[in-house]
Amino acid sequence: AEQNRELKERIAQLKKERNAIILAHYYQRDEIQEIADFRGDSFLLAQKAAQTDADVIVFCGVHFMGESAKILAPNKKVIIPDERAGCPMADMVNVEGLRALKRQHPNAKVVAYINTSADIKAETDICCTSANAVKVVNSVDSDEIIWVPDKNLGDYVSKFTNKKMIIWEGYCNTHDMLTVKDVEEMRAAHPNAQFVVHPECRPEVVKLGDFVGSTTAIIKYCKESDCQEFIVGTEDGTGYQLRKDSPEKKFHFATKYLVCPNMKVNNLKKVARCLETMQPEIYVPEDVADKARLSLERMLLVK
Ligand code: 13P
Ligand code: SF4
Repeated sequence: AEQNRELKERIAQLKKERNAIILAHYYQRDEIQEIADFRGDSFLLAQKAAQTDADVIVFCGVHFMGESAKILAPNKKVIIPDERAGCPMADMVNVEGLRALKRQHPNAKVVAYINTSADIKAETDICCTSANAVKVVNSVDSDEIIWVPDKNLGDYVSKFTNKKMIIWEGYCNTHDMLTVKDVEEMRAAHPNAQFVVHPECRPEVVKLGDFVGSTTAIIKYCKESDCQEFIVGTEDGTGYQLRKDSPEKKFHFATKYLVCPNMKVNNLKKVARCLETMQPEIYVPEDVADKARLSLERMLLVK
């Protein structure tokens, strides 16, 4: 605790010296969320990156999030605590594969989940996050959509659109591990609890949800609901905000495996170190960034 206090003071001082802001995803460790200027889901953090006046953005999340921030704010320095914090789902789609699909479906528009590399975004018509996926798909001016990379979110979205969706076979290791059996066992143990679930989970698990939504939507729902007890079907870092908003309510994570190891690679020591050394810095080649920016900016404009 003493070490954490010293680190937090050091970070606060460096932040001032560098004119930096710290953005933290809801899946980050509690101690990182505590020191963040903004906590949020992928959508909110992309918006904050696009709007900030700071000179430096410290992005505490995974690599594609830092990259999206850099693309949206090309004149800022974007640094991350650890270069190795990647997203396995983002790595499940590659440019060659996507280009081949585009050739097979020349009339389709590409919608990419923000959980993708800059190279994929550069091949994309419009990005989305779990918070706006249905709205984005329905906003696209084509009856045919190539959807990358999350098959589970793709399946969920396909239920709210008449468009034909060609869905890539990627998935989030962490959310995809949750099974119907896990949820049934938790329901038996906590019969008064509602089950809230992220659409990155498998379709048969999502179907069991009393509420389905992005990280921010789940947090908002639990805060505003009259229900006092929840079984949570998303990453365990969301517990920080859920408990902060409603200390009197009970939150049971649906299994102990709902932990994204990549998100947990970051810690306070690494945040302090990156502010000291200004490394590792996110770099996106200009031609890629210019194309990728269009797909992100289109997303930010969808109402
Ligand atoms: P959201 O932030 O959109 O809820 O997405 C969850 C996620 O897995 C981020 O990596
Ligand atoms: Fe990727 Fe899943 Fe981790 Fe999010 S929770 S960063 S989608 S692996």
